[in-house]
Amino acid sequence: MQDWFAKQAAHYDESEGFMFDPAEIAKTVDVLVDLAGTGKALEFAIGTGRIGLPLAERGVEVHGIELSEPMVEQLRQKAGGAAIPVTIGDMTTTQLDATFSLVYLVFNTINNLTTQDAQVACFENAARHLEPGGVFLVEVGVPQLQRLPVGERFVPFHVGENHVGIDEYDVVTQGLWSHHVTARGKAAMPFRYVWPAELDLMARIAGMELRDRWSDWERSPFTATSEKHVSVWQTSG
Ligand SMILES: C[S@@+](CC[C@H](N)C(=O)[O-])C[C@H]1O[C@@H](n2cnc3c(N)ncnc32)[C@H](O)[C@@H]1O
Repeated sequence: MQDWFAKQAAHYDESEGFMFDPAEIAKTVDVLVDLAGTGKALEFAIGTGRIGLPLAERGVEVHGIELSEPMVEQLRQKAGGAAIPVTIGDMTTTQLDATFSLVYLVFNTINNLTTQDAQVACFENAARHLEPGGVFLVEVGVPQLQRLPVGERFVPFHVGENHVGIDEYDVVTQGLWSHHVTARGKAAMPFRYVWPAELDLMARIAGMELRDRWSDWERSPFTATSEKHVSVWQTSG
């Protein structure tokens, strides 16, 4: 598994996807700066610091939890990366001895948790790290089942010169395999897709309530055709 992580980490920041576009990152960071206020932020699955680093550059004290050591090694090699405290561990169980005004989990990473129990545990662990009135933010795609003809499993999500991506849905188990084909070969990642309403219930189990749901980082309204959502749940305080 660590080998697989190492391969992923070495090429993670080479992606040409829009999530690596500096304008998209700036919009993301703007929202997170507002939500953190004068408090500290904790990024679950901080990875190579795509968001954590620019957020720290904006003056927010950022901490991270991350499963993959090779991803954190990439973070450490970037300017400012050594100054961000990162704990290697699972975001569903790892506990820091600190509380935050903001815990956030972006780039569909709630779906990396492939069981409902693990996703609930992630919400519970987020709540555990929040100050009263603190918020948990999740950015995740809306399952694209409206694009799936009855009985079919495959939805292409990106067809470009250097990358072809196809999502494979199992509507019985909420399983999702993302297949990627690049010049380096083929890879498939297992996920569990999850609906906004199911996430709201997970938040309630963890003692939080929905505060905002947008369809992007410009805080556009979430609609019937939104392909993703940025949702914010708040602890009572
Ligand atoms: C798509 S990357 C996102 C990284 C970073 N948050 C970003 O926005 O660029 C997903 C990350 O989640 C990490 N990850 C997956 N499952 C995890 C878990 N259970 N606990 C902590 N990190 C996890 C992976 O190692 C990887 O770094």
